[in-house]
Amino acid sequence: MSVILAIESSCDETSAAICRDGKIISNHIANQTVHEKYGGVVPELASRAHLQNIVPVVDAALKTAQTDLSEIDAIAFTQAPGLIGSLLVGTQFAKSLSLALNKPLIAVHHMQAHVLANLIPDDKPAFPFLCLTVSGGHTQIVLCQSPLQMKVLGETIDDAAGEAFDKSAKLLGLPYPGGPLIDKYAASGNPNKYQFPEPQIPGLNFSFSGLKTSILYFLQNAGKSLAYKEEFIASEEEKKKFIAENLDDICASIQWRIISILLNKLKKAAKETGVSNLCIAGGVSANSGLRKAFAEMGIANNWKTFIPAFQYCTDNAGMIAITAYYKLLAGEFVDLNISPTARAEW
Ligand code: KG4
Ligand code: ZN
Repeated sequence: MSVILAIESSCDETSAAICRDGKIISNHIANQTVHEKYGGVVPELASRAHLQNIVPVVDAALKTAQTDLSEIDAIAFTQAPGLIGSLLVGTQFAKSLSLALNKPLIAVHHMQAHVLANLIPDDKPAFPFLCLTVSGGHTQIVLCQSPLQMKVLGETIDDAAGEAFDKSAKLLGLPYPGGPLIDKYAASGNPNKYQFPEPQIPGLNFSFSGLKTSILYFLQNAGKSLAYKEEFIASEEEKKKFIAENLDDICASIQWRIISILLNKLKKAAKETGVSNLCIAGGVSANSGLRKAFAEMGIANNWKTFIPAFQYCTDNAGMIAITAYYKLLAGEFVDLNISPTARAEW
């Protein structure tokens, strides 16, 4: 029997979850709306919001799980990577609880946890599996041999997939985070209307900066060209009118290009490694177009595909708790000298 309390505070979501014997029985997330008007996460405001949210979120997780601190066997927290001020709040809270309750402490890597969100449901992928991890800060193809044995096979050389969504949305005048909004408008648009370029990057790495530049020029030209052409530069009014009249088709075309960049590399990885269990993870795996195309790719190639439930795609403590469960089984604990780190290699 083991009961783990897990805390996630790496970016702008404060979350707490309870895992009992490998089952997530509660997962509470407090979203921080304070960043919307700034067009991105403001680190200082994120840390302050975590401080306000952390006690209520932990209380809610314990309450939903119908448990209390006396039943907790271990405390887990996100140690890296993330915004340092945000990580410090969760780390310090977890360390204080560990000290007060005299219970072991488990440090979790946020990206490893995104991958292991796929082990939360009863229908889990068998090992080895490949995971396309796509979030606001990362885009990776990970080969997972066992819960704690992972290798990054490829990653982005510039922007992450989530950034590609959010930066495109910003160019369209949509608020942050723009990914979910592009998803929403794309649902009623034509993905083949505009042909944004697919970069030719060797191996299993990704690049999204060229796509961002072509979208910038395309909008500057009010849709007349994908490349920079001085003679096509439109006025602000023309640009706004073009976006308003074609928003669904523009979003569908951008979304489709991001999806095809991601899935073509995942397909290549599956062919090269011969691994036929495929997963997706991270905030961008909440994208409905990606989920659909990913499942279709699996059917077409006779590969098994797995997608976490929505609440375990974007940042959440449930994924920290499941990772901590496997670390607890392996006896991987840390002592109270542990500090968070903003960047962390695997
Ligand atoms: O994993 P996550 O919650 O936080 C990080 O660790 O970065 O990912 C956040 C990213 C943001 O870029 C957000 O726009 C994107 O995930 N995202 C989406 C969708 N939901 C969240 N992107 C596209 N479609 C969505 N439905
Ligand atoms: Zn994340």
